[in-house]
Parts: sequence; C-alpha cells; structure tokens
Amino acid sequence: MKLKGKVALVTGAGQGIGKSIALKFATEGADLALFDINRGTCTVTAEESKTLGARCTAYGVDVANREQVHGACEEVLTVFERVDILVNNAGFDRGATLLKVTEKDWGAVLNVHLKGTLNCIQALAPIMIRRRYGKIINISSIYGKSGGIAAISYSAAKGGIIGLTKSIAKELGKSNINVNAVLPGLTDTPTIRRMPEKYKKMIIDATPLGRMARPDEIANVVAFLASDESSYITGSSIEVTGGWMM
Ligand SMILES: NC(=O)c1ccc[n+]([C@@H]2O[C@H](COP(=O)([O-])OP(=O)(O)OC[C@H]3O[C@@H](n4cnc5c(N)ncnc54)[C@H](O)[C@@H]3O)[C@@H](O)[C@H]2O)c1
Repeated sequence: MKLKGKVALVTGAGQGIGKSIALKFATEGADLALFDINRGTCTVTAEESKTLGARCTAYGVDVANREQVHGACEEVLTVFERVDILVNNAGFDRGATLLKVTEKDWGAVLNVHLKGTLNCIQALAPIMIRRRYGKIINISSIYGKSGGIAAISYSAAKGGIIGLTKSIAKELGKSNINVNAVLPGLTDTPTIRRMPEKYKKMIIDATPLGRMARPDEIANVVAFLASDESSYITGSSIEVTGGWMM
C-alpha cells in the first residue's frame, strides 16, 4: 500500500495503460480522480477501482481543452481537497510520413499530448506548490527519444513531453515536486491490438526481451515514481521498452 492516503489524478484512464495505472494505484491505496474523453469507459475503470477499495470519481474531459480541464480540476479539488499525484497519460497517434502529415493531424496530436499535459499541470501545480508536495508523471514514448517511422507528429509531441518534463522539474524542485517522464515501448493495449501483426512482429523481433509490455508493467514503474520510494528522482526519462531502441 505505498500510495495509502494519497489522491491521484490519471488522464486517459478509460482503457490501456491509463486504466492499468488507475487499478494499480487503487491496489496501492490511493483515492482516484479519473479523466477520459470517453466518460463511459472511464466510469467502468472507476467502478473497478472502487471494488479495490479506492474512493474514485470519473470525469468526461478532453485534456486538450483548457477550460474543460480547469473546470474538472476545480471539481476534483472540491471533492478530494488536494491532488498529490498527476499522471498525464491521455493520447493518440495519427501516423503519417513527413510529406503526408496534415496540418490538422499535426495540431490534434500536439494538442492532446503537449497542450493536454500542460493544461493538467497548470491546473494542479498551484495546489501542489501550496502543499509543498507533488508527483507528476508524464507518459512519453521511446519514439520521443529515438523517433518513429511514419510517426512524425507523435515523435515530435512525445519528444516535447520529455523537454517539458525537464523544464518543469527544474522549476518545481524547490517546491518538493518530482516531475518525471516514462517512455514505454510497444505495449499491449486495445489500440495496439488493432495494428497490423507485421508491424508488431518487426518491433518484437528487435526487442531483446522478445515480447510487448503488458500495461501493468508500465503501471508498476509509474506507481514507483508516484510513491515516496522515488523521492530523489526528478527530470528523468525512464525507458520501459524491454530493451527496444535502447
Ligand atoms: N501502447 C503503446 O505501445 C504505447 C507506447 C508508448 C507510449 N504510449 C503512450 O501511452 C499512453 C496510453 O497509451 P495506450 O496504448 O494505453 O492508449 P489507448 O488508445 O489504448 O488509450 C488512451 C486513452 O486516452 C483517452 N484519450 C484520448 N484522447 C483523449 C483526450 N483528448 N482527452 C482525454 N482522454 C483522451 C482515450 O479515450 C483512451 O481511453 C499514450 O500517451 C500513448 O501515446 C503507448
């Protein structure tokens, strides 16, 4: 129960890695506010988290929408009085090569990852600063460090998250707030399951551990960063890739 007594907000909690993080946090004793653009799936995660003992509320929020994020965060603070842990996980890709990436898709991908992450941090940093306590974990991707083929906007957005993480870590360190990024490799989530087997095989063949990650293997690392066991880690980019693109 390494998160007992903590309040955590997880974005993109309706499925995949975000859902696993929510359930892991509930198992570790945290209370939860869950955001997802899909309120239905988010509510299902909230119900499952409650069965694990968490006090939990689901919110239908588009993280790229600043007003929605700030409004929902105010509600969260009314209900829970504070947020100790923020996990910025919501996101999606609109894969395209350089000459095919459209302005619309470029904007959408940068908005959900970069603006979405900034929106949530700006809404919750003030309460963390006042309380001199906070753990912020931003879900980037190994593509943010190494680049991905036909992933122009996504790699730019995920690389941006690494820079944003380091910059905010420098600013918030004096307020006892740890800010870190997690860089998953290929992880077996509903979105990845829809991808062509050929693409996945190519990655798995190049991965020393010879398989995809399970979402709970990413959630375990996030739970460590959210706990006081990681008290001297900030500004880091933790790769959880099975050795792919090390
Ligand atoms: N699965 C992988 O292989 C992998 C690898 C590296 C990084 N990541 C990153 O991990 C995170 C989760 O990935 P996943 O595979 O679980 O994704 P997923 O598509 O399975 O789930 C993402 C969740 O985010 C929600 N979401 C999407 N846009 C949103 C918005 N604007 N506002 C609020 N919620 C929104 C979706 O509704 C969904 O519930 C993403 O940031 C992704 O880029 C995933």
